[in-house]
Amino acid sequence: MIYLDSAASFPILPEVRLALMDAFENCYANSASSHLLGEAVSLKVNKVREKLANEIGAYPSEIIFTSGATESNNIAFKSILFSETAPKNKKHIITTQIEHKCIFAITEYLVTLGYEVTYIKPNSDGLITMQSIKEAIRPDTALVSVMHVNNELGTVNPIDEIGELCFENDIIFHSDAAQSFQKVDIDVDDLNVDIMSFSAHKIGGPKGIGAIYIRDLRHKELTPVIHGAGQEEGVRGGTVAAPLILGFGTAIEKFKSYYSDFSDNRIKNKLLDKLNSLEIEYVENGVNTIPHCISITFPTIDTETLVRDNENKLCLAQGSACSSKEIEPSHVLTSIGLSREMADKTFRISFSFNVTEQDLDFLCAELKRHNQYI
Ligand SMILES: Cc1ncc(COP(=O)(O)O)c(C=O)c1O
Repeated sequence: MIYLDSAASFPILPEVRLALMDAFENCYANSASSHLLGEAVSLKVNKVREKLANEIGAYPSEIIFTSGATESNNIAFKSILFSETAPKNKKHIITTQIEHKCIFAITEYLVTLGYEVTYIKPNSDGLITMQSIKEAIRPDTALVSVMHVNNELGTVNPIDEIGELCFENDIIFHSDAAQSFQKVDIDVDDLNVDIMSFSAHKIGGPKGIGAIYIRDLRHKELTPVIHGAGQEEGVRGGTVAAPLILGFGTAIEKFKSYYSDFSDNRIKNKLLDKLNSLEIEYVENGVNTIPHCISITFPTIDTETLVRDNENKLCLAQGSACSSKEIEPSHVLTSIGLSREMADKTFRISFSFNVTEQDLDFLCAELKRHNQYI
């Protein structure tokens, strides 16, 4: 199988696999227990908290471990907006048309509680501009949420500019960093973000673990997403998933050295060179993109047959992975102006670390073979 879908999930790093096995075997004690083994696990979990905080210029006390970015996004909206300290008269939210679908599920729920939501359209390059957010701000805007890197296009939004705008207007700013963490530099102060969501399986860590950064967390009196026995500052009850957290910690430590494989768009450019030399017509969607991910429309290729013919050979995404089995065209592609037909002819190709020259050759040969106009 040729795996070109790492934006949906990166394969587990070898070091993470070892760390997980070790943790499952040796770190079985409950980190809340006051005995020696429990305290040893708690110490290790807090080392990962420290590691994540250091990576993003935050304090460890501002990090909560969650089950992944979906849960973190739920906390970012619900725990914050329902908190004691949230302004009661502000019920307007700004987010974008290109967020991950979990954000829409959350905002649709909030609308039933009386919140109003403005969804910002990206420009034709797939970027959310600071100006478009500025025009949408109202006196009753409570929260702005703009993803750092888009999961279908790989575009990097100008989070620092949007963050500064929110800071000037005293509006809470959240950014979903599931796709950007360890691929794009993050400093929460430079970016002016108040809340940020992370996921381990996008960086070669295990599924089912992620985190959220919340500025000055201990002063926020947040409403829990899971009521429990006080774990994770009382926001997220349940026994802390220590082995998964330790695996996440190893992924944080190791991922960047693997990711340097993609630097200077080396592999992306190789693919584009091959497409050019085979005279395959394509349009690249989005600008200012991360190096391992590319969204390409192939106007002359019968993509449906290509996918069907290669279902046992190729893993790539038509639209976003989470919705690729749906018949609806991708909301991201249509928001940047692609027709339904062109959205269907678009692949998100996201390289994994072990991608070879032969893999790229195979993909290009299949594209050429399914060209409708030769
Ligand atoms: C931008 C973005 N946000 C959130 C998620 C959901 O992350 P998780 O699987 O950790 O809940 C994803 C995963 O596809 C994503 O790409």
